[in-house]
Amino acid sequence: MCGIVGIVSDRPVSARLVEGLIRLEYRGYDSAGIAVVNGQGIVRRRAPGKIVNLQSELNSAPIDGTCGIAHTRWATHGRPNKENAHPHQFGSVAIVHNGIIENFKPLREELAKCGHVFATQTDSEVIAHLIQYHLDKGLSEEAAFLAAVERLEGAYAVAALVGDSNQTLFAARHGSPLVVGFGDGEMFIGSDAFALAPFTKRVLYLEEGDSAVVKINDVCVRDKAGALVTREVMTANISAVMADKGNYRHFMEKEIHEQPEALARTLAAYVDSDTNLPMLGDAAPFLKSADRLVAIACGTAFLSASVAKYWFEALCGLHVETDIASEFRYRTPALPDHGAALFISQSGETADTLAAMRYCKRAGMDTIGVLNAPESSIARETSAVLRTLAGPEIGVASTKAFTAQLAVLAMCALGTAHIRGRLSEDEVKAHISALNALPKLVQQALQTKDQCEAIAPTLARAKQIFFIGRGVYYPLALEGALKLKEVTYLPAEGYAAGELKHGPIALIEEGTPVVVIAPTDVLMEKTISNVEEMAARGANVIAITDAAGAEHFTDRTENIIILPDMTGLTGPIVTAIPLQLLAYYTALTLGTNMDQPRNLAKSVTVE
Ligand code: AGP
Repeated sequence: MCGIVGIVSDRPVSARLVEGLIRLEYRGYDSAGIAVVNGQGIVRRRAPGKIVNLQSELNSAPIDGTCGIAHTRWATHGRPNKENAHPHQFGSVAIVHNGIIENFKPLREELAKCGHVFATQTDSEVIAHLIQYHLDKGLSEEAAFLAAVERLEGAYAVAALVGDSNQTLFAARHGSPLVVGFGDGEMFIGSDAFALAPFTKRVLYLEEGDSAVVKINDVCVRDKAGALVTREVMTANISAVMADKGNYRHFMEKEIHEQPEALARTLAAYVDSDTNLPMLGDAAPFLKSADRLVAIACGTAFLSASVAKYWFEALCGLHVETDIASEFRYRTPALPDHGAALFISQSGETADTLAAMRYCKRAGMDTIGVLNAPESSIARETSAVLRTLAGPEIGVASTKAFTAQLAVLAMCALGTAHIRGRLSEDEVKAHISALNALPKLVQQALQTKDQCEAIAPTLARAKQIFFIGRGVYYPLALEGALKLKEVTYLPAEGYAAGELKHGPIALIEEGTPVVVIAPTDVLMEKTISNVEEMAARGANVIAITDAAGAEHFTDRTENIIILPDMTGLTGPIVTAIPLQLLAYYTALTLGTNMDQPRNLAKSVTVE
């Protein structure tokens, strides 16, 4: 996902534009650039790769001014190189853009007929040409900007320097977030409040369809109808401290170890201190009356939805249909007449999940967001929000957000079971008491880190790795595979343990690592049979089990990761810890950039 920063100030802005980009690195990118207005008009510097490359460009050829824009690009159209890096400039216009302009081809053709020559393969460049086209027609800078934005179809957050308005930033959002920051003698634009945290915490969030004209001590916001509107200025709750690595080597390592604290914070927010029963807020009436649930998400968030399916169906007797957001609305789903839809998302900006939520809203369903970002697009449009209190998650791989999602979903299932009369108060309180032990259990599970680090070289040299589990641990197997592949680039697949003999076992070769998630439960004997089948074909078994389960593996492998608990609602959450640690240490062994893996973005705001 691309990142945008803009500053209009009474002092030089170049260094702070770059500082803002550094805070956006977590979103994933493959090139970066800045443009400023100085005595000679608009000048820019861009570089492929990481921001350090842009910094060396600026060191060798400095530019500065008191008004500028900056961008980190995650390539959608056009290769990730310097030519396609933002800001794009044409005539007296420079722009930065996050999103996809779906009608950029016809617009390019239309402008080419007017003599416009394009320098890049990107969709974004057309925005600069459109603004210049309207300037050439004699429109004012603001009118030219608005007229250009009016022509765009698709998702965009765009910031621009236009013409002679050299102490003015122009901005607009449609499908991608933008915030305006209020400083002392200066104003800011950012993709999120986190980017602006070093400069200000006073921000306003532009709404869908808003545009803004930002001057050194003022902002003028218009809604999608062009009417002047006032948006609430609030204090962003993101502390710059929370987003630093502290004494960890990577954000991923830090966030894995923050889970006990994140879980304690999250769980506490859902238990009524008087009754010791779950508090579900505005979501409660929807969950009480729903005749069916739909749970939609992407990636790891989809896997937390998949775990929740087991919990809601077992505890509430409520059918839960889970689906991947990018598939859901294109299959003409048979939606329930009185259903509630859960949308699970760390960023709250994932385009597929946002689009699925809007689809369900249009179908008249009650929509509930399980979100880590309270001011996100999904948060602003769902009927109710159940927040995860994981804090900013900077590493692209979702770790503490995943376990916080599971904690919220567990509380949600318990609360729903109670208000629907499926569980007594005592039964609910017993489950909550078990969940209250989760931070300690996760702290204990983190003690397997040395064992996971010792196993990592085996995974690092493997051609392929399998993760298998049964029941609620099947989605955990899928999550283990996803975590590993996204930070190590190794081929890893998760399977239902009982499914291997229906095809995938053909892939097992001598030494193929198979991570078996094996709690001591009613399915253990069947899982052991699956392990036998694979060991007989040379698999290198790595067991994740509990104390009672360890004996089943002592004569099969020395790699037995013993967890303090794999029961009830806490088991799947505790199991996520060694899966994350195996991925982290394997990536460390391979030297991949596990905080910003290649090709990935923290939040995918394009479909
Ligand atoms: C998780 O490790 C991945 N980075 C990715 O699958 C992520 O979970 C997915 O893109 C959904 O993001 P969201 O939670 O912000 O919607």
